[in-house]
Amino acid sequence: MSDNVFIFDHPLIQHKISLLRDKLTTTKEFRELVNEVSLLMAYEVTRSLPLKEIDIETPIAVARSKVLGGKKLALVPILRAGLGMVDGMLQLIPMAKVGHIGLYRDPETREPIEYYCKLPTDCADREVIILDPMLATGGSASAAVSFLKQRGITSIKFVCLIAAPEGVKRLTHDHPDVPVFCAALDEKLNDHAYIVPGLGDAGDRLFGTK
Ligand code: PRP
Ligand code: URA
Repeated sequence: MSDNVFIFDHPLIQHKISLLRDKLTTTKEFRELVNEVSLLMAYEVTRSLPLKEIDIETPIAVARSKVLGGKKLALVPILRAGLGMVDGMLQLIPMAKVGHIGLYRDPETREPIEYYCKLPTDCADREVIILDPMLATGGSASAAVSFLKQRGITSIKFVCLIAAPEGVKRLTHDHPDVPVFCAALDEKLNDHAYIVPGLGDAGDRLFGTK
């Protein structure tokens, strides 16, 4: 396993992931849980953001204080399931801009096809956090990172809820410079490239389409 892979063991994250896995969890609950886990993950993912010191005038005196000092942030959810992670992240980093990449897995080849891309105009100057609940074969994630790199973005993180070993291997092999953050690393993929035990189809469960 690459040392650029981070699995969050925070009890609240683990508890909520277990609820997400439950097939009896309703669409409403599923959406709320993805939102909550994303917020908690935002806290961990931003842990290494650089700070700079500035002077702040308090009502009493001048305080030498720390504020965020690195690149501005952008969130890029992979459509459609990545959308479920945006609001939770924005609650902690409301100044982030949001771009979108639309990818679907070809049912025959299971390779990702890009059908939409709209990014902030200054995205090359931003640190980009890609969001997608599921890292299965890694095809979608790897393609999304490649698309962003082609557009001049050099600072990229990938955040998912559940990863399969196959996906982690592919993403870290194709893009060793991109840290991968997940809440759970599962056992394997099944014959249909779904994560086992996973949580099923994240997009369908988020939007109630099945
Ligand atoms: C799911 C998921 C990822 C992709 C992961 O999306 O949200 O984008 O599959 O699989 P991979 O690692 O094998 O590429 P899906 O293609 O089902 O589209 P959806 O979000 O529109 O449901
Ligand atoms: N996409 C999903 O939504 N779930 C999986 O298990 C694999 C890909």
